Amino acid sequence: MNILPISKGLAIAIVAVLTVTACSSKPTTPNDVSIRQDIMQDWRISSDIMKSMLFEDRFDAKAFKEQADAIQASTHVWAHFDNDAEKGKAQDTVWTDAAGFKLKAQMFDDAVGELVSAADKAQSFTDVEKAFGKMNESCGSCHKSYKSR
Ligand code: HEC
Repeated sequence: MNILPISKGLAIAIVAVLTVTACSSKPTTPNDVSIRQDIMQDWRISSDIMKSMLFEDRFDAKAFKEQADAIQASTHVWAHFDNDAEKGKAQDTVWTDAAGFKLKAQMFDDAVGELVSAADKAQSFTDVEKAFGKMNESCGSCHKSYKSR
């Protein structure tokens, strides 16, 4: 009489396979946390690339501007902080101090705007250095109050 447990196990295995198949055939919608983390990781890369160009012989105006533009094109990231059930590595302050967070986001967007216009007409790294520094400080200043370590 040990045929029953075996077929029971088999039935469970089949159900499990069917469930996995059913799940994986559904379109996957990335959640807010992974969307915004992916964007911010790209920002880090862009920022590092720009930083590496802040030398006399390494500045490439076109490549620098491309990175600044890429950051500006993804400032829609803030919409992915609307849902307070999607915590990720964000501190609760993102939602308990929503006005403060919005202000930091706005200041960042402004700093990115200034960086893009500086990059537009830049001839040398000295033309973007100040705007880059301001944008970079804006990352850290928001993380300090709104991102957990
Ligand atoms: C207005 C606030 C704000 C600004 C400005 C900001 N960040 Fe963030 N950042 C956050 C928060 C909040 C998180 C945590 C997000 C999460 O885990 O869901 C985060 C997460 C990150 C992460 C970790 C992503 C991961 O995979 O865990 C990196 C890297 C990062 N930010 C880079 C940057 C860089 C670079 C800039 C500037 C160019 C920047 N951030 C500007 C708020 C900000």
